[in-house]
Amino acid sequence: MSGLTIAERSDTGSQTRTIRVALAGCGVVGGHLAALLREHGVAIERSRGIRIELVRVLVRDVQRPRPTPLAPHILTADAESFLATPADVVIEALGGHDPAERIAWSTLAAGRDYITANKLVVARRGEELRDLARRSRARFSFEAAVAGGVPVLRVLRDALVGDDVRAVRGVLNGTTNYILSRLHEGTTFSTALTDAQASGFAEADPSRDLDGRDAADKIAILAWIAFGTDPARLRVHRAGLLPDPEALIAAARTFGGVVRLIAECVRLPGAAIASVEPVLVRPGSRFAAVHGADNLVEIDSAWSGALRFSGAGAGGAPTATALLGDILASPSPLSAPHSRACPDAHDPRPRRWVLSVRCTDRRSLIDACAAAGLTGAGVHADRRTGTLHVLTERCLRTDVARAAALLRARHEAVIESRYDLEEDS
Ligand code: NAP
Ligand code: HSE
Repeated sequence: MSGLTIAERSDTGSQTRTIRVALAGCGVVGGHLAALLREHGVAIERSRGIRIELVRVLVRDVQRPRPTPLAPHILTADAESFLATPADVVIEALGGHDPAERIAWSTLAAGRDYITANKLVVARRGEELRDLARRSRARFSFEAAVAGGVPVLRVLRDALVGDDVRAVRGVLNGTTNYILSRLHEGTTFSTALTDAQASGFAEADPSRDLDGRDAADKIAILAWIAFGTDPARLRVHRAGLLPDPEALIAAARTFGGVVRLIAECVRLPGAAIASVEPVLVRPGSRFAAVHGADNLVEIDSAWSGALRFSGAGAGGAPTATALLGDILASPSPLSAPHSRACPDAHDPRPRRWVLSVRCTDRRSLIDACAAAGLTGAGVHADRRTGTLHVLTERCLRTDVARAAALLRARHEAVIESRYDLEEDS
């Protein structure tokens, strides 16, 4: 950990440390962190004896008005000058690959602590950055990258370090959960997406939320901390809300369920099976009860049983508290990997699935299912939206994927969801 300056004594008589923070990004997340430091800085200094000093802020446009005013001399649009600023901790809330990865690399190589909200960078480069942090004795923390304000990585890493975690699953993307909640209330997809963006929940490129890539990065990070699987090598089966989110709601209406985008990673002997997909769950079930931009993370472990953590999964304020928690947390190393995902593992669990297509040609759907080896699938019609839904019997994910591929050759938008109305979720 980089040396912190002993500055003066706090009200309680203990010595006060000053932590110099350089913040990359002052948008939804970084801007809320600046506001949080401004509002709680004095209280933190009094109670913890730690003064947090914002010494540099990297943005794209230094002229843009910010909700929390910042001294003009600390703002810069130049990544190199930002990195040259003496600081104890660098926080990254930019998003994307570059300059985010460059900042991660040079910060840790210089032995400075690096805290990030950027799941893309952690999922892609986590192991390399962890190794670099170990070599340079710096801290690498990323609680804010998963489930917003829900402190679940710390639980997996610290509280459950002696347990045997078998599965992690949950609603990990606030934007899609907000959109699905609004669609169930009758709002159109375009209005729900616009509102999610205006609320600061969505990624700069919202297709990362909608197609499940954001949730896939998060389940890869959770699996890394829970099972030691390299997040960059974990193969996540991924289906999102696209291309037809409203067809998913039609499927839910047809079968009397609620749609949730659920990410899951299950440890099996020699493999970790990971997925992100829309799931039809029972109304009143624990996943159906996750509303708006909230997240729910469920951990199945051998000794503690099922543990559940829920709360605000997106938005500037909760994510800023996760960043601040990492600034103030005492240093502790990430757990070392103890298993590896088998990259080509297929999910061996038979489950039921729904394929939804906006068409009236029942024959074509039944033929495609039969050609893919699926027997006993029933076709259900939603006349209001002109959508046909094929509900399979229990089968493997690979069989359903084959049927979906055959249907996609004939129909424009085919959307898959898992049918979980008989399960206890
Ligand atoms: P945002 O509102 O778009 O803010 C991005 C900030 O980074 C802006 O201040 C922008 O500068 C700056 N920036 C972007 N590219 C830059 C570049 N090339 N050079 C210099 N500055 C640059 O994004 P956000 O929602 O705060 O998200 C930031 C990160 O936090 C992302 O990795 C995201 O996935 C993650 N995250 C977000 C949330 C959430 O709810 N929003 C929750 C958890 C994690 P300007 O202000 O001048 O444009
Ligand atoms: N876009 C992300 C989400 C932000 O909606 O969950 C929080 O990581």
